[in-house]
Amino acid sequence: AGLPGTNQERSFFMVKPDAVQRGLVSEIIGRFEKRGYKIVAMKMVTPSRELIEAHYDDLRSRPFFEGLCKYMSSGEAPVVAFVVEGKGIIKVGRDMIGVTDPLKSAPGTIRGDTGVSIGMNSIHGSDGVEGAASEIPLWFSQDEIANWNKTADKWIY
Ligand code: PPS
Repeated sequence: AGLPGTNQERSFFMVKPDAVQRGLVSEIIGRFEKRGYKIVAMKMVTPSRELIEAHYDDLRSRPFFEGLCKYMSSGEAPVVAFVVEGKGIIKVGRDMIGVTDPLKSAPGTIRGDTGVSIGMNSIHGSDGVEGAASEIPLWFSQDEIANWNKTADKWIY
């Protein structure tokens, strides 16, 4: 499971603390369900600084790294981490999210509809095949991922 290019392609997403604070969890996760995608893992967690640093490891040299890690692991609100499965989810998920800056994200995208600022931009989504492959096991153990058949798939793909 999780093979890019197949109906089992998987990507990692996380509702960020600002969106949890504003009560947008169902609004955001609902968009993936409505699109016909299958949620295979989901949990609310107050991430440790260590976990967030590992998650954003490739951004260590960026000037905003410290602020981003502080914000994400502040504990002022948890995050909701989830894994979505379905054809094209890595690219489609990014399209559904919009661009980094909510003010530049088109209406209809998650950030274009709910984002506040570059830091408080509602949701994270894996940026590609490699990102998805490293982020899913970082956040979820094998037994936290549900293996289930979405029988409605015969109407979708
Ligand atoms: S880059 O330069 O293209 O790699 O960066 P980008 O993809 O735009 O952003 C990577 C993640 O860093 C977050 N980010 C920031 N957070 C706080 N402050 C500032 N200035 C800032 N700039 C970028 C951005 O929201 C991305 O987070 P995720 O969770 O991956 O979407």
